[in-house]
Amino acid sequence: MNDPDGYFGEPVATTYDESSADMFEPGAVEPAVAFLSDLAGDGRALELGIGTGRIALPLAARGVRVHGIDLSRAMVARLRAKPGGDAIPVSIGDFATTTVESTFSVAYLVFNTIMNLTTQAAQVACFRNVAAHLEPGGCFVIEVGVPDLRGLPPGQNAVPFHVSSTRWSYDVYEVSTQAMSSNYVEVVDGRGEFRSIPFRYVWPAELDLMAEIAGLRPHERWDGWTRESFTNESRKHVSVWRKPAS
Ligand SMILES: C[S@@+](CC[C@H](N)C(=O)[O-])C[C@H]1O[C@@H](n2cnc3c(N)ncnc32)[C@H](O)[C@@H]1O
Repeated sequence: MNDPDGYFGEPVATTYDESSADMFEPGAVEPAVAFLSDLAGDGRALELGIGTGRIALPLAARGVRVHGIDLSRAMVARLRAKPGGDAIPVSIGDFATTTVESTFSVAYLVFNTIMNLTTQAAQVACFRNVAAHLEPGGCFVIEVGVPDLRGLPPGQNAVPFHVSSTRWSYDVYEVSTQAMSSNYVEVVDGRGEFRSIPFRYVWPAELDLMAEIAGLRPHERWDGWTRESFTNESRKHVSVWRKPAS
């Protein structure tokens, strides 16, 4: 991947809001914004991977001062083009290492974006970077899927998630390394196009250990933004770790 915007360059940025339309529905956005706004209180919020502002814009509209970090100038240009988008400061860079001259009462990384860091070392660095930006008592929030290994047929390493006459989408898992990829094959005008995005899947308990390494303590874990219980059947989790107050 040589594009400086990573896997969210111009072609993805152009269609991001439309292709993720269900995640822009009020039912998906409002509970997340309410949850994060409660944690922010009167303080500031840091969004890692701010993208086109799906969460940051409504959070800022509630009066929370939001700062973003993102690798992709193309995604941030879409944020800038929206009402209120110019007022949100964004640092361009890798959220595992980029520093911002401020501290925050909440930092958040939603929509599976922790998995965009494709090594364990980078995910640990991200926790350390966040911890360094949190005020004492501040919180780090992650929304991410539970790895869907139960969907893998015995002896196989691929799980299809969309199959139609012109489009095939499937995840590939490497259980020895926790590398995975989402793969998209599409037939357009009789020609096949292929796109593959690498991820690293990560378990809830492993995230807790990363938090511990970074000096954060487990605070809450839910099945979703409206605080449903996290159970054996949960497909995703919203987890919160807190920086000790002293
Ligand atoms: C799935 S989108 C989520 C955008 C937004 N948070 C949302 O919920 O709609 C992931 C975003 O994270 C950014 N991103 C991915 N890896 C990154 C990294 N290592 N450093 C900074 N930004 C990254 C991408 O450019 C993209 O804008």
